[in-house]
Amino acid sequence: MTTISRPRLLGPGVNRVDGPLKVTGKAPYPSDFAYRGMAHAVLVRSTVGSGRITEIDTTRAERAAGVVRVLTHLNAGHLERGPMTPLGVSPPAPLQDDVILHYGQHVAVVVADTFEEATEAANLVRVGYSAQPALLELDDPRAELRTNPWGRDAEWGDVAGALASAEAVLDETYLTVDNTNNPMGPLTTVARWEGDTLLVNNSTQWASLESTSLAAIFGIPEESVHVMAPYVGGGFGAGLRVWPHVVLAALAARVTGRPVKLVLTRPQMFTACGHRPKGRQRVRLGATREGHLVAIDHEALTATAIDDDNFEPTATVSATSYACPNVSTHDMQVRLNIPVPNSMRGPGAATGNYALECAMDELAYKLGMDPLDLRLCNDAALHPPSGLPWSSRAHKECLERGAELFGWSRRTHEPRSMREDGMLVGYGLAAVGYPWFRARCLARATIRRDGTAYVCSAGSEIGNGAYTVFVQLSAELLGLDPGEVTVGLGESTMPLAPQTGGSGLTSAVGSAIYEACRKIVGEVLDIVADDIDSPLRGCTVDDVEVGDGGIRRRDDPARFESYRDILTRHRLPDLTAEGESAPSTPQELGMAPAGAFGAKYVEVRVDPDLGRIRVARAVSVIDGGRILNAKTARSQIIGGAVGGIGMALFEETVSDAGTGRIANATLGDYIVPVDADIPDMQVEFVGSWDRANPIGTKGIGEIGLVGLAPAIANGIFHATGRRIRSLPITMDQLL
Ligand code: MOS
Repeated sequence: MTTISRPRLLGPGVNRVDGPLKVTGKAPYPSDFAYRGMAHAVLVRSTVGSGRITEIDTTRAERAAGVVRVLTHLNAGHLERGPMTPLGVSPPAPLQDDVILHYGQHVAVVVADTFEEATEAANLVRVGYSAQPALLELDDPRAELRTNPWGRDAEWGDVAGALASAEAVLDETYLTVDNTNNPMGPLTTVARWEGDTLLVNNSTQWASLESTSLAAIFGIPEESVHVMAPYVGGGFGAGLRVWPHVVLAALAARVTGRPVKLVLTRPQMFTACGHRPKGRQRVRLGATREGHLVAIDHEALTATAIDDDNFEPTATVSATSYACPNVSTHDMQVRLNIPVPNSMRGPGAATGNYALECAMDELAYKLGMDPLDLRLCNDAALHPPSGLPWSSRAHKECLERGAELFGWSRRTHEPRSMREDGMLVGYGLAAVGYPWFRARCLARATIRRDGTAYVCSAGSEIGNGAYTVFVQLSAELLGLDPGEVTVGLGESTMPLAPQTGGSGLTSAVGSAIYEACRKIVGEVLDIVADDIDSPLRGCTVDDVEVGDGGIRRRDDPARFESYRDILTRHRLPDLTAEGESAPSTPQELGMAPAGAFGAKYVEVRVDPDLGRIRVARAVSVIDGGRILNAKTARSQIIGGAVGGIGMALFEETVSDAGTGRIANATLGDYIVPVDADIPDMQVEFVGSWDRANPIGTKGIGEIGLVGLAPAIANGIFHATGRRIRSLPITMDQLL
């Protein structure tokens, strides 16, 4: 079947199909749902960072106006912990004992008729603690250290020997701070029970996991949990897990017998749904005088919670970035009394790439070499750990095209050598390779007698443009107009899908849609196999192509029949097929599945007197395989780059020494870039169709962010001669 007949890299830049719904306020986000008799739940959080609850007095809260119920560890009852997930163990079930593991842990939930009444009563809950010193520092000797937590450490060659004999060696340490995901839509759960069935409107990036988890936690069959998340107000990773507050909303609904809405407040968003953890990375690079890498040694230590998991493969970045005969990468986590960290756009990769790409820039200066040339001469033409060819790789093109667009050749090598309008000008660069991720996924497609189609999968739309690209793809694969296709997403009762995360959704759902649509065409051909009235009689899927609402023979395009005519003649209301995609292993493929590649170029301007830093230009050139929608893809990269500028210059979750109380847990105090901080962004896509899946795509959800921070740090060095090895880089550090 040649449904994808024109291998263009860039699909048309079409507007979001859900754009009008969103801008008119009609897209139903989780917090928009309300049900008859609905009560509101408000959380009470721990005010110590470590210790035990010695007493909890809810009498005043229970007597307060409108209060329906107050739940604490004393009356919540037993809840199972959720199951093992692809991201590690589930968070601990809430309200199960008196132990406090971090400041801000949920210690009670108040359910009342209104949000205001619940908030008021939550303030009346009195909690006594016996506090003990909280473990908060990466180096705390009392803290438990986990080595190689995801089994991804890499080791080949003789790193120590190569470093000892290298002509140039770089050995530096880079620090990153806590950052907090701040999706615009505060995470919301609206839970209700109909008999033994749990219905949940929820901000989730993973409806399929949520239904499985809630079923396990409440000890009910999976079919009895219905998670609905047709629209989610952003995630950036915050919606990847089944958080304790989700469980509390469902529990509150069960014990009160009413629908319960729980909306995290902005301060609660800083403690209840993950963050990018602080870390320290040591990078050692060895190279020949000509700049060929002979050794890479990357060690990363990041913070994690006392009793939870976080997937943050950081040093791992260095195993796949450059061709090098001696490589070792080691990830470590230290367990601290902090809210559980969790994926934040580009988890591990964003910070790991920051350290590696700053180190590469430093090495270039040691060698007296152009930082671009250093990257180019160490290009990993083959996938370094396996030696297999990549399923696609236009990394050099990204670097070269980026240099051209940016005007890298105008750069003078010496730090502090470029000035304009009284400002120090710096050009910085970072190369990026984003890890590949895909998981098993199902989708279902239905073609109806009226010539329209419905396609669905449980994968969710979190602002990423999922509805739009799946409409485009389904229309192409069935030969329909986009207006004739409706896509359903985000419900756990739809065919199983992996998380909207890891930059993997489009390839996973898209490949399943490919299969489903191909099956539909096959079914249609089966129906007309012996139909003497059909010009398609006797055709197989490989003999035909789709278009204009039907199917035509490839060898004779005049022999065409529409779905409408076929289904009408055969008296069929519709046809449905389910498609499955499962990622192939590198062995099966004979190649290493590639994620996206990219090059990030920035111009920074630094005020020599005040140290004020401005990003003046940013160019991102991305190899994302086939780009389904040039417009949403560009927007995805720009959004990521804004996040990258935040990581580089602004974002820092600050906590108090001793308790871990987060001191800037509002959007007024947690600084993110605003419009005036964002320059014109140039985005270009290069490369070709990826060979690892039938639709040719790679993920681009996260690569937009990755690389901005090192490119900016490198630009600041070039502008000022000051090498700042920690993020965020602020003006006081440059004075
Ligand atoms: Mo992403 S941080 O995998 O949602």
